[in-house]
Parts: sequence; structure tokens; C-alpha cells
Amino acid sequence: MAFRLTVEPIGETIEVREDQTILDACLRQGIWLPHACGHGLCGTCKVDVLEGEVDHADASSFALMDFEREDGKTLACCARLTEDVVIEAEIDEDEDAEHIPIRDFSATVTRIVDLTPDIKGIWLAIDGEPIRFQPGQYVNLTVPGVEGPRAFSIASSPQDGATIELNVRKVPGGKATPLLHETLKEGDHLSFTGPYGQFFTRRSRGGTQIFVGGGSGLSSPKSMVLDLLESGWDEPVYLFHGARGLKDLYYRDLFETLAAEHGNFRYVPALSEPDPGDGWQGETGFIHEALQRAFPDGFADMTAYLCGPPPMIEATIRTLMRGFLFEEGIFTEKFLTGADEDRIKSPVFRRI
Ligand SMILES: Cc1cc2nc3c(=O)[nH]c(=O)nc-3n(C[C@H](O)[C@H](O)[C@H](O)COP(=O)(O)OP(=O)(O)OC[C@H]3O[C@@H](n4cnc5c(N)ncnc54)[C@H](O)[C@@H]3O)c2cc1C
Ligand code: FES
Repeated sequence: MAFRLTVEPIGETIEVREDQTILDACLRQGIWLPHACGHGLCGTCKVDVLEGEVDHADASSFALMDFEREDGKTLACCARLTEDVVIEAEIDEDEDAEHIPIRDFSATVTRIVDLTPDIKGIWLAIDGEPIRFQPGQYVNLTVPGVEGPRAFSIASSPQDGATIELNVRKVPGGKATPLLHETLKEGDHLSFTGPYGQFFTRRSRGGTQIFVGGGSGLSSPKSMVLDLLESGWDEPVYLFHGARGLKDLYYRDLFETLAAEHGNFRYVPALSEPDPGDGWQGETGFIHEALQRAFPDGFADMTAYLCGPPPMIEATIRTLMRGFLFEEGIFTEKFLTGADEDRIKSPVFRRI
């Protein structure tokens, strides 16, 4: 069964199956609604329901509060229609957005590599037509035996959409990532949908581009940096990668080679808990501290992209704001899970 959804202020009407979310139906049919986590946690996809009733489904009570539900708001990434509905969404025109419709993909696992003790690189060769995505975007991966998809950012360059690389950190107590780490093998088949998200390079801003990744949050920045350098971007590009010890730092050789080849690219890894036996001579402390040391005069007119665990993102936003870079120049991809409800309540974190 399907219902009709009208999206204001653009006035377009589409069909939405009863098992489909508003966001899924819109992104498949060329209507680009704002979204980020895709899982009812961040609140980015909040829309007003002007007419009709929706089922709020799995919306977190922090991302969509009770008073907001009573005020007729819903989360497009969770809400399903129970009748014909009219919604109003804030559809900003972002000149860097390509609005690529999401599709379903099936793929074969061609390679699995231990990048660190708790992060695996997983390569998926797509059956049929390659995926088109903007570097920084993510896919929703279905893990057999686990209810609901899991979000993973694409770590490879968009130049090759026939095979994508994912970097998957094993989450203690998680349902899907331990399965991916312990049972997935080369030759297995997986399915995913995508591309999702608004975390992509804002080339139109020009100037210095700063990428900050924490842990497996190197995935999106890796794709974005590769794409910028491959396409001949000649303004400064910085990549800051935060890890605990030397064993947790991955793709160091790749980025050191790129820094040697490209005069405009600088790579700054920082270890928060280096082992004395590591012989580490580089930056130490948290990644936002290394960032501050690299830019003593602040970040005015630059563009920063932050990707990874919520505590790292929150600390880095504060550093950037103290250095005169504000909302319009900061873009984030928060690797939110059900464990992050406390973070979602923070005002500075919610705003960006
Ligand atoms: C846009 C986006 C992109 C991402 N990209 C990447 C990436 O490139 N690489 C990567 O490694 N990760 C990425 N992540 C994070 C990744 O999606 C999660 O780590 C993954 O979904 C966890 O799956 P899981 O089944 O193993 O854990 P889950 O079973 O989902 O559990 C995750 C954690 O939350 C806890 N938890 C679950 N539900 C609740 C609850 N209701 N209350 C309190 N605690 C709860 C669990 O105990 C566990 O600690 C991304 C996330 C987002 C939103
Ligand atoms: S995209 Fe819907 S809550 Fe995050």
C-alpha cells in the first residue's frame, strides 16, 4: 500500500510505500531533504507535518522531543505514512551538493585488511552499475542477521565507484560490527543503499581546507583528500588524524607519500596515548590540541570538516570557534550510535 506525500515549499507530490520512510522515498525520487545520521539520532531531518498523521517509529526522544511531536514535527528518516500527508521542509540550496538519488546495491567482499587492532578495511566490488557519490558521503550497510542497517562512510575516492572501501571499527557490545570483524570473509555478499549525507567538500568556499578525523573517522576525510588532490586542487589542504597509540594509526604511509608529492598538502597525525616503546616523535595529545598548535593565529576564512566520535567533534568545534571559525565554515559527520544520547543534548553539538 502507498500514500501520497506533498513536500512544501516546493509543492512536489510523490508516492510513499507504507514500509518506507519519508526520507527514503524523497531521496529515491529526486527530492533532497536535509539529513545526516539517517537513524533518528541527530535531528537534522526534522520536518513539519502540515496535514495528515505520521508514525514517528524509531525517532530518539532526544532528537525529537515530546513537545516537538505535539507541535507536529517529525524526523523524515524515521517517519512512515499512515495516510496522505503534507510536510514542510527547510530545503536549502547548497551549491556544492550534487543531489545524487540513492539506490540499492549488492556487492562482493573482495578484500579485508586489519588496519588497526579494532578497525578493518573492507572492500566491496559492486554488482552492476557503479555507485556515484560525493566524497564524504556514507552508505547504509545491511549486515545479515542484524535488524536495521548500519552507517559507514566511504573511504575510497569517488573516481572508482565500482569498488568501495569501508573502514569499520569494532564497537564493544555492538551487534553488527563484531559480526563484520569476526565472521565476514572474502567472497561474501553484502547489500547496501546510498549515497547519503551532507558531509561533502565545499569547494565553492575556496581557501584552506582542514580535515580532522578521529579513529575510524579517517574514512570520509580520506576520500575527500584523495579527491581534492587527484583533481588538482591547489589551495592548502590539511589532514589531522587522532589516534591513541602507534598501532592505531593507519594509512600513515599513504598520507606521508601524498604530502611528499603535493606541496599544498600537510598531514598531521597525533597520538593521545603513545607507548614509550613506539619511539613517537610527532604530535602528542588530543587532535584538537594539535590543530590549535598548528594554527596559532586562528582559522578565520578556512573550512573545517570534522569526522568521527562525538567527543572529538565537540572538542574540535570549540577549538575552531575560539579561533574565529564559526558555523558556516564547520561541517561535521558524527559517528553517532545509540550510546550517544547524552552528547545529542549538548547545545554546541546540536547546532552544527
Ligand atoms: C553517518 C555515519 C557514518 C558512520 N561512518 C562510520 C565509519 O566510516 N566507520 C565506522 O567504524 N563507524 C562509522 N559510523 C558508526 C557506525 O555506524 C556504528 O559504530 C555502528 O553502526 C555500530 O553498529 P553495531 O551494530 O556494532 O553497534 P550497535 O548494536 O548499534 O550499538 C552501538 C553502541 O551503542 C550502544 N547502544 C545501542 N543502543 C543503545 C541504547 N538505546 N542506549 C544506550 N546505548 C545503546 C551499544 O551497547 C554499543 O556500545 C558511522 C555512523 C554514522 C551515523
Ligand atoms: S538524519 Fe534523521 S535524525 Fe539524523
